[in-house]
Amino acid sequence: MPIDNNIPQTAFPATGSWNGFEPTNVGGESPDVGRLRQIVERLFPDEQIVQAPSDLFIEELNLQSVFDSFGKIAGIIPATPTTDPFAFNVDIFSGGLPVGEELKALLYPEKKETANSALKKEFAPSTFSDYSWGRDQQITYGGREAFDVQAIRKDFPILHQKVNGKELIWFDNAATTQKPRQVIDTIARFYERDNSNIHRAAHTLAARSTDAYEGAREKVKNFIGASSTEEIIFVRGTTEGINLVTQTYGWKFIQPGDEIIVSTLDHHANIVPWQQLAKEKGARLLAIPINDNGEVILEDYEKLLGPRTKFVSIGHVNNTFGTISPVKTMIDMAKRWGARVLIDGAQSIAHTPVNVQELGADFFVFSGHKIYAPNGIGVVYGKKEVLDIIPPWQGGGNMIKDVTFEETIFSDPPNKFEAGTPNVADAVGLGAALDYVSRIGIHNIEKYEHELTEYARERLATIDGLRLIGNPRNRVSVVSFELKNIPTPEVGRLLDQEGIALRAGHHCAQPALRRLGVEASVRPSFAFYNTKEEIDRLIEAVRKISHNR
Ligand SMILES: Cc1ncc(COP(=O)(O)O)c(C=O)c1O
Repeated sequence: MPIDNNIPQTAFPATGSWNGFEPTNVGGESPDVGRLRQIVERLFPDEQIVQAPSDLFIEELNLQSVFDSFGKIAGIIPATPTTDPFAFNVDIFSGGLPVGEELKALLYPEKKETANSALKKEFAPSTFSDYSWGRDQQITYGGREAFDVQAIRKDFPILHQKVNGKELIWFDNAATTQKPRQVIDTIARFYERDNSNIHRAAHTLAARSTDAYEGAREKVKNFIGASSTEEIIFVRGTTEGINLVTQTYGWKFIQPGDEIIVSTLDHHANIVPWQQLAKEKGARLLAIPINDNGEVILEDYEKLLGPRTKFVSIGHVNNTFGTISPVKTMIDMAKRWGARVLIDGAQSIAHTPVNVQELGADFFVFSGHKIYAPNGIGVVYGKKEVLDIIPPWQGGGNMIKDVTFEETIFSDPPNKFEAGTPNVADAVGLGAALDYVSRIGIHNIEKYEHELTEYARERLATIDGLRLIGNPRNRVSVVSFELKNIPTPEVGRLLDQEGIALRAGHHCAQPALRRLGVEASVRPSFAFYNTKEEIDRLIEAVRKISHNR
């Protein structure tokens, strides 16, 4: 089997020991692969290599990426061989970096079907996929610090740059999150090797990309605890998802005089489409009041519910104060009146565990870009029995079983709602992002981000002239504030001069901000790659701005 000459065949000396790893040649493997295999065997002693490395295996391996991964850790491993070569290190693999898992995925070919085996099939129902490197992995941190944020940060290339001469601090995570190398590489890999339109062709690349796309659907299903992939519809994002629901379920079932309930805390994306629908249908839109802390008032919500309530659509987490609303309770309350419920999960999906079956909502929507996935991909979860009774949204290819000029027979969900060529690569990228988050563990993320948020709130509160806006008891990693006598946009601009990126404005949540007496706020929002040191820099910069006035 020819091997690409551009790929270095020996990253480390071909002969002799390297850190105690001998260049053994099991099955004729290259010296490097031999060494790597030994490392991985030691790291994952419970795994069995079922396929001996071979030329084919070596060709199938992306050696360059093995070397990249290896290079990343090589700097940490002592150069001098020790008597126990494994004494160095295992921690560096398990401390929040996925390197160990990546190597394993690369070196254990039984974990995937090979491209070659896919070629042998006429139409492979399940062809090889390289998109499962983090599948089912949850890092356990026996006795260690929650996770190694510095190791995690290395996965996010964009964080390592200077803006206006200062190290970039990304505190605009509620607007969008940055993408780990694993997501970026997955998308590049998809376009480099597997790109094809899906579902329609009998060739191998179509089979591979279909598998990758449907594999991503499976990952979404698992991540949010849906009962079946038929309940997972890919859309562009939360906004499109909510519009899909208003224009399908809403158009079919909302009648004049019906009532639709949203919350004062909601993002415009969960207000405007319902308002449009209500106007068209002669229905009423009602908003659940909030208190001065920025929390929904359940007693008032109770009063709004009644026999006319046909739909309740509420945000899980508010994007301005970070409020986690008691959605489980609110869904149960709506269900007592037979109303359908949609949960806008745009701000919850990356920060707090979500299980749609436990919640019991009819719809749950979120955007990929808020959870480390690409822009332009999002999800509508819909209960199967609800999706079955609502009409398709857009018409076209990919959503039909049969078309004549007289009639079209539509596909079953989810295809019924995915007209046209979908955003395959970004769906696959979303799958990789969910793998990444699952590896760190959403509970670990929640805990770490909570610490960051409390740290930030406490210190911001000590700054003269600063007023925190909203004080919800249950909250995620979003903080809103204003500075006395300094316009919010100016604070944003001055912080940008310090390399600090955050949002300063109305955050598409004008009713919520107005209820708390302001038109705009400065909003830092944190992710698991942020640090207390970054917060210290924010505090120092805000203090300076405030002091100079
Ligand atoms: C709570 C909430 N809902 C909906 C949206 C809209 O999401 P997208 O712009 O990705 O459609 C956002 C975006 O910030 C949000 O925070």
